[in-house]
Amino acid sequence: MKILLLGSQGQVGQELLTTLPSVGEVTAWSRHDLDLSQSEQIGPAILAQQPDVIVNAAAYTAVDKAEQEPELAHQINGNAPGQLAQAAQTCGATLIHISTDYVFDGQQNQPYQPTTPTQPLGVYGQSKLAGELAIQAACDRHIILRTAWVYGAKGHGNFVKTMLRVGAERDTVKVVYDQVGCPTWSHDIAQAIAQLIPHLGPSTFGTYHFTNSGAISWYDFAMAIFEEAAALGWPLQIETVLPITTDQYPLPAKRPAYSVLGTEKLRTLLQQTPPYWRVSLRKMLQELMATDRQAS
Ligand SMILES: NC(=O)c1ccc[n+]([C@@H]2O[C@H](COP(=O)([O-])OP(=O)(O)OC[C@H]3O[C@@H](n4cnc5c(N)ncnc54)[C@H](OP(=O)(O)O)[C@@H]3O)[C@@H](O)[C@H]2O)c1
Repeated sequence: MKILLLGSQGQVGQELLTTLPSVGEVTAWSRHDLDLSQSEQIGPAILAQQPDVIVNAAAYTAVDKAEQEPELAHQINGNAPGQLAQAAQTCGATLIHISTDYVFDGQQNQPYQPTTPTQPLGVYGQSKLAGELAIQAACDRHIILRTAWVYGAKGHGNFVKTMLRVGAERDTVKVVYDQVGCPTWSHDIAQAIAQLIPHLGPSTFGTYHFTNSGAISWYDFAMAIFEEAAALGWPLQIETVLPITTDQYPLPAKRPAYSVLGTEKLRTLLQQTPPYWRVSLRKMLQELMATDRQAS
């Protein structure tokens, strides 16, 4: 099976580089190989490759910056996935595309299911929803896998890395406690995608949710990061984590207050429960420490 991976240098993309070879022959493309902002290049590049499966882990992920760059966010997250889907349809490939909890407005108090109506609050969520709709319109053979609150040892910054940096420099940090979701390790997403591929077929195409198990606030997550990192001997100055409300920490893009995703549909397909968020956090921190030790 020929798998074409897009976004190979991102948090999830780098993990897919390690999980996908168990299910197929992988060609990995970064932004340098195919720039999704260059719409005229997308179709020809895919058709020249003739993959069996396209895994799209590339995206415009700067949630706040998207408010100032809506056209670029819509091109990469909305139009480009539609063009990938058209190319997949033409060459008989299946498109596996990653989407987000930010397609929901966060007004529920029970987990969002793949069938729950969407209502994004900001440009990033709107652009990701546009990508989902464009894929559904263009290609029957698709999987849209929504995930949330992604962090990993590899790739650019994320909440865990920010907390570790701030916690090493300062004795106090303020973190919002009124946004609830589930932190998800990029490694676990990549495992789930690799496990999903052997199940691809007409009865399994559609939209799924994958996150780690559990639900917490960003404040709870920050506390856990510091506790787990301290237990591993991470050098920290932090003494106080102050819980604050979203209103006390205004950002350009509005976030959903509650964005827990119901993962039952994927759990049933894979016959497996996603790892508990804290177990995955511990493993990620261990990996980060091991990488840091090797580098120093
Ligand atoms: N991060 C989260 O909290 C989160 C939450 C829910 C869902 N998701 C979704 O999960 C997926 C993976 O996210 P992630 O956390 O791995 O994001 P990431 O680390 O920001 O990786 C995204 C990748 O997309 C690439 N990219 C950006 N613009 C591109 C362009 N014009 N052409 C080609 N590639 C481009 C980036 O390339 P460079 O390396 O060159 O910048 C980067 O490697 C995305 O679909 C995202 O929407 C993420």
